[in-house]
Amino acid sequence: MSPLDRLPPPLCPGLALTALAPMQDVTDLFFMQVVAGYGCPDYFFTEYFRVHDTSSLDKKILRSITENTTDRPIFAQMIGESIPDLVRIANKLSQYPIAGIDLNMGCPAPRIYRKNVGGGLLRDPEKINRILGELRQAVNGRLSVKMRIGFEDTENFDRILDLINRHDIDLLSLHGRTVKEMYHGAVHYDRIAHAVQRVKCPVLANGNITSAAAAVATLDQTQAAGVMVGRAAIRNPWIFKQIRQQLSGQSVDPVTLGEVRGYIERLRQTTTALTVPERARVSYLKMYLNYIAQSVDAEGLFLRSMRLARTESELLEVCDRALLSYPDQLFAPEPYPGLVARPSSETVRELVTH
Ligand SMILES: Cc1cc2nc3c(=O)[nH]c(=O)nc-3n(C[C@H](O)[C@H](O)[C@H](O)COP(=O)(O)O)c2cc1C
Repeated sequence: MSPLDRLPPPLCPGLALTALAPMQDVTDLFFMQVVAGYGCPDYFFTEYFRVHDTSSLDKKILRSITENTTDRPIFAQMIGESIPDLVRIANKLSQYPIAGIDLNMGCPAPRIYRKNVGGGLLRDPEKINRILGELRQAVNGRLSVKMRIGFEDTENFDRILDLINRHDIDLLSLHGRTVKEMYHGAVHYDRIAHAVQRVKCPVLANGNITSAAAAVATLDQTQAAGVMVGRAAIRNPWIFKQIRQQLSGQSVDPVTLGEVRGYIERLRQTTTALTVPERARVSYLKMYLNYIAQSVDAEGLFLRSMRLARTESELLEVCDRALLSYPDQLFAPEPYPGLVARPSSETVRELVTH
């Protein structure tokens, strides 16, 4: 049996896998439904469930499992270090319709890694050994890991990859940077290629996969079983369909500015499901627009003017001007150089209880 056979069936057997990367405060139920409207990835991952001695299942995150209407399997991600509590929460999650339990060993936020969870675990292979051993025993279904290539350097990398093998992990999603590199600098795809050779399970390559062409280049370079796409899917939710087109030798459907305006409208409609003040709805939309704006105009005019908008109607007017003046104009497949989304990394947003 191929290790791929242990995963849920992909949308197009024979093509490389795709997954939407988990992104806290972004990849909620609403966003996954919006992405599904433009072409699903093979797999979704939830935002992380925090695990500690008094933790229970976060209701909002749980909805992305219980109300998942995308038809695609979803892995439930946990972040924590207390073994009895990880086992307790994994057992609870296993009662829901999930593709598997995923352990976060990559979060680079200092307030997280200082507690020795997320990316902090990469400093302690012995602890990883115990966590994965206990989880493997407790979880009957799939167990996957999402991690980076190391904490400060890659000294522990091979040891951790060998633990992935020892505990029979079903899927490894690998962001090709260290924790200390956060989101800066080049992604070390050569380290991902190394992991692909060393582990027995399928690997999803992750980090700066910005377009269908970039996905295919990464797959060529790493020989990974698939790609996991994060921020580029916020900018361009068509990316999973485009990757499948590129992989199967079809021409990649371009996206027009008019279609992007439609995408923004779908995001806006999700905010009406949030019973929050206008200010919060505006900041919710701006968070997504930060990424979208990277492909609208090379000068960053849309990026700057949308940041200045204060009310919802001002913001939508800015969108109409930028996107509907020439609706057939193409949305750039890659971000324009020099246009930076803020926040560009995992930052707690001022928002929203829904
Ligand atoms: C806003 C934001 C939130 C994130 N939240 C999580 C998370 O909850 N769990 C996780 O494993 N990774 C999280 N990540 C990391 C992403 O899953 C991914 O590894 C990273 O963004 C690199 O991929 P990309 O270059 O395709 O965005 C987050 C990233 C961003 C930008």
